[in-house]
Amino acid sequence: MPATWKKYGWAVAAIFLLAAAQVHASSNNPLVGEKLYKESCMACHTEEPAGMMGASTALLVERMHTVKAMKAPEGKVAHMQKVLKRISDQEITAIAVYLNGMR
Ligand code: HEC
Repeated sequence: MPATWKKYGWAVAAIFLLAAAQVHASSNNPLVGEKLYKESCMACHTEEPAGMMGASTALLVERMHTVKAMKAPEGKVAHMQKVLKRISDQEITAIAVYLNGMR
């Protein structure tokens, strides 16, 4: 093992780990949105939600916030609101970015 690697190997590894953690936390990472969508939304909206695929991120975020803020939703919308209340604004954005990127 070269001496320089011995000396700096741990520092390099730490930097890579930090970078990976950063990507994971980013609301603009479609992989985070995909995971959330598949866990929380797909059961009702299907794997390829025709009305949402490729829609504007801002519009999707707005609609999710509208549902989240509804006063007395009923039926499935009430269920969706329950799901949304467990999801942060950052995660809502991540889901919207994922849906926007779908074709
Ligand atoms: C229990 C079923 C259910 C779950 C779970 C659910 N939704 Fe919905 N969602 C609905 C229903 C029902 C509507 C209202 C549909 C309508 O009026 O066209 C809706 C509406 C929406 C709309 C507005 C669509 C539009 O065109 O106005 C968006 C965006 C949306 N859901 C995204 C999501 C996302 C993202 C998740 C996951 C965090 C989610 N939904 C989870 C049932 C669900």
